[in-house]
Amino acid sequence: MNALLAGQASLPRALRRRHAVVLLGTGMVGGAFLRLLDTPAGAALGLVGAANSRHQQTDPAGLAERSLRERLAVAGAARDDAALLAALDADAAVHKVIIDASASAVLAARHPAWLARGYHVVTANKALAGGDLQGWHALQAACAGHARYGDAATVGAGLPVLSTLRRLHACGDALLSLEGVLSGSLSWLFNRYDGTRPFSALLREARARGYTEPDARADLSGEDVARKLLILARTAGFALTRAAVQVENLVPEVLRALDTGQFAANLEALDAPLAARHAAATARGAVLRHLARIDRHGRAQVGLVEVAATHPAAHLRGTDNLFALKTTRYRAQPLVIQGPGAGPEITAQALLGDVLALV
Ligand SMILES: NC(=O)c1ccc[n+]([C@@H]2O[C@H](COP(=O)([O-])OP(=O)(O)OC[C@H]3O[C@@H](n4cnc5c(N)ncnc54)[C@H](OP(=O)(O)O)[C@@H]3O)[C@@H](O)[C@H]2O)c1
Repeated sequence: MNALLAGQASLPRALRRRHAVVLLGTGMVGGAFLRLLDTPAGAALGLVGAANSRHQQTDPAGLAERSLRERLAVAGAARDDAALLAALDADAAVHKVIIDASASAVLAARHPAWLARGYHVVTANKALAGGDLQGWHALQAACAGHARYGDAATVGAGLPVLSTLRRLHACGDALLSLEGVLSGSLSWLFNRYDGTRPFSALLREARARGYTEPDARADLSGEDVARKLLILARTAGFALTRAAVQVENLVPEVLRALDTGQFAANLEALDAPLAARHAAATARGAVLRHLARIDRHGRAQVGLVEVAATHPAAHLRGTDNLFALKTTRYRAQPLVIQGPGAGPEITAQALLGDVLALV
């Protein structure tokens, strides 16, 4: 322990710093989180460790450098969770927080153990809560202890939808249906797709803007949306499995087995099937939107749907997400939450908000 921390440990609780933080993942979201540490809201957090998939850093002097993300990309100590947790243990802060800004299922599977050891976990990673039901139950059991789980960034990039569902559920207000646009990238694509440009051209633009995953099949397969729908449904009290969600895969068979490079070179195979869907929808006076739905019986679907021009999803802009919730007490008119649902800055802010909410 360095002299500063040793000094802190002897301070009364009220004078110790509030948060010691380890950041896992220094990609788009993790990088934006590091920038937030330079703002007044983030400055009070003590970063004691940071890692990407290959390297990590726990030395306080190195962590303070603005180039931390770039340095970790090329150098650092070998990845070792134990050293990161030891850095948290050595800190005298009141709240010890692990922030998961990766998409790693391996890391997500460790969340329950970290919670059980008393570390708070704040995550943008959906792999545990949106994964198999066993993982969800392990998470709920671990959350029964003292440590808290911050998941606002996992759905809607921090839009207040999970917190709203929890409040309604706690009040006994049962979810009757949820309908929404849960993917920022698919929202942008279908808000823009009017038949004048091939879908493949729009997809290339979406990738260049950083809206899609490096391999856009992760978005087009519907699997990312299915994970978000599982998190929403489970939060509302439905013990739903992935097998119970009907998911439409927009990736044609011929593109499914290709490697990422070959897929990117053959995007035109998406054009004809989607142009036909678009023309059919237009002939009926409708538009195409990528919707996720769940009803009161837990029946869940994800896919491309024709909606009337008057439907709320027909009026979305940019990367907007939309969540329309009908409950026993919001029955005549749905409770609607809408706003940008993707982007590193707002997602990182959702992480910071969950950390600050621990106090
Ligand atoms: N981007 C958005 O707008 C957005 C919005 C909402 C939620 N999210 C979620 O936020 C998470 C991060 O997204 P992103 O866009 O920042 O992804 P990204 O740019 O691909 O970054 C992922 C980071 O995780 C690191 N990582 C992977 N395995 C790791 C491990 N075992 N230990 C430590 N770090 C590990 C990667 O390391 P390397 O650099 O070594 O590969 C990389 O730094 C994902 O779960 C995503 O679904 C993103």
